[in-house]
Amino acid sequence: MSLAENTRIQHDQWWADAVIYQIYPRSFADADANGMGDLQGVRSRLPYLSQLGVDAIWLSPFYLSPQADAGYDVADYRAVDPLFGGMKDFDAMLAEAHSMGIRVIVDLVPNHTSDQHEWFQDALTATPGSAARERYIFRDGKGPGGALPPNNWQSIFGGNAWTRVQDGQWYLHLFDTSQPDLNWENPEVHSEMESVLRFWLDRGVDGFRIDVAHGMIKADGLPDWHAKTSMVEGSDAETPPYFDQEGVHEIYQHWNKVLSEYDGDRMLVAEAWVEPAERLFRYVRPDEMQQAFNFGFLLAGWDAVRMAESINESLEEAGKVGAPATWVLSNHDTVRHSTRYGLTDPTTFPKGISAEDEQPDEELGLARGRAAALTMLALPGSAYIYQGDELGLPEHTTLDASVRQDPAFFRTNGEEIGRDGCRVPIPWTGAAPGYGFAENPEAASPWLPQPDSFAKYAADQQVGLDSSTYELYRQALSIRAERKLGQGTVAWTSLHAPADGVLSYRNGDLTLVVNAGTRPVRLPAGAEVLLASQPDAVTDNALQPNRAVWLV
Ligand code: NOJ
Repeated sequence: MSLAENTRIQHDQWWADAVIYQIYPRSFADADANGMGDLQGVRSRLPYLSQLGVDAIWLSPFYLSPQADAGYDVADYRAVDPLFGGMKDFDAMLAEAHSMGIRVIVDLVPNHTSDQHEWFQDALTATPGSAARERYIFRDGKGPGGALPPNNWQSIFGGNAWTRVQDGQWYLHLFDTSQPDLNWENPEVHSEMESVLRFWLDRGVDGFRIDVAHGMIKADGLPDWHAKTSMVEGSDAETPPYFDQEGVHEIYQHWNKVLSEYDGDRMLVAEAWVEPAERLFRYVRPDEMQQAFNFGFLLAGWDAVRMAESINESLEEAGKVGAPATWVLSNHDTVRHSTRYGLTDPTTFPKGISAEDEQPDEELGLARGRAAALTMLALPGSAYIYQGDELGLPEHTTLDASVRQDPAFFRTNGEEIGRDGCRVPIPWTGAAPGYGFAENPEAASPWLPQPDSFAKYAADQQVGLDSSTYELYRQALSIRAERKLGQGTVAWTSLHAPADGVLSYRNGDLTLVVNAGTRPVRLPAGAEVLLASQPDAVTDNALQPNRAVWLV
């Protein structure tokens, strides 16, 4: 098997091969001891991230918000929510990150605002057809007295995608009722979002992660849709009338021009759950965004054939448009990968796990998670690490319903467990209250309870310990940078075949072998193991199942 070489990428652009660390500010580090992470907390842990060797951080939203969807419901795009600090804290964090050579990407949520946003509050008091209503998607209802919603769309979080207001009109919200969709047919929405982009670019951010990047434009006439709404569509699914419409690309072509007016390489990364890869990579054509998350790799699970297919497809499609491939295993919307890989079927993709569900095999999941990290980090392109991945953190799978906060849990009456389990605050110190999420021992409890197992995963239990997951990531990032693996190419070796559960590719002088099968596999005689996913990975020159190595 050979792969199209991604020859058109210009490697002087920092993002082309960057390792980008996702910070979920609520759960990263709590400097003011109120139980919720904050920007000063982020700043205080920058030395940890620098030591880990990341090139950039991406911060999930920290803007003024009622927090109905953990900040993805923005009330003011130009203000820091007091929960996280103030603008001074942001500026200080940004300056310090830059002084350490770490770039900073912020989240932009352009598909919807919070219902507490000034625009929406104005729209509520304005009359049907008014300019204030035209910023959102208001429609008259159907049936007698307009009592039925304008169409049959369902919210991604469950329930109806329309809510009725006092005068009888309805407004669209693809997510929660408190997240009204903006009307991207209205030029005022375009100019406002451009101004928001410029506000943060002027402050010095290096890029934006674009939330629901495939969602802003809806099909003409808002036609009914026959299938269930989901962020994760199968590759054979039809395109719903609210996702991946042609018009979204014009928005990114414009934003590309806006970014190019600024010095430095500013970038946009698309959160677009779009399949197949050929359609996803249209978002990163040369005049659009710079990167798009490759969720195909995340969805491949612990399955060598599917991983190989996803790697081939991504590199081929990326090569066609001259964009870097991206790789990601977990984020704040998915069950953590070391937990997914510990389920009986490690290709399943549950929407949350509760105490009543199958519980993962933690040791197996962690072993596979570490092997998957080596598989991902030797690939060319840009790699994303979700906070806690480097500690091998598992999902919290037994959170009580009483502490859950994800709107998806409530809107589906608990049918969908939701994403709280992957958002649990980071353990920094094994023996401290709240595992050191706040350094102050008097601090309020973390906003979500941590499982007891977090004591052993805490950063202080791992930093400097040779066999730890943290040290594995640190060494992998260091070798990746030294050997410029992110700028390399993939050539499958003839050593083993994915059908036997084994992936093996070369990138430069380095060979990755990962054993996702059930039997030990022989390694080439004389090969030196540069890095192993764990100390027992190789016995008698055979790679054990659920392990990976980097060979030279
Ligand atoms: C995707 C974000 O990652 C998720 O957390 C959020 O709930 C939805 N978009 C809505 O903004």
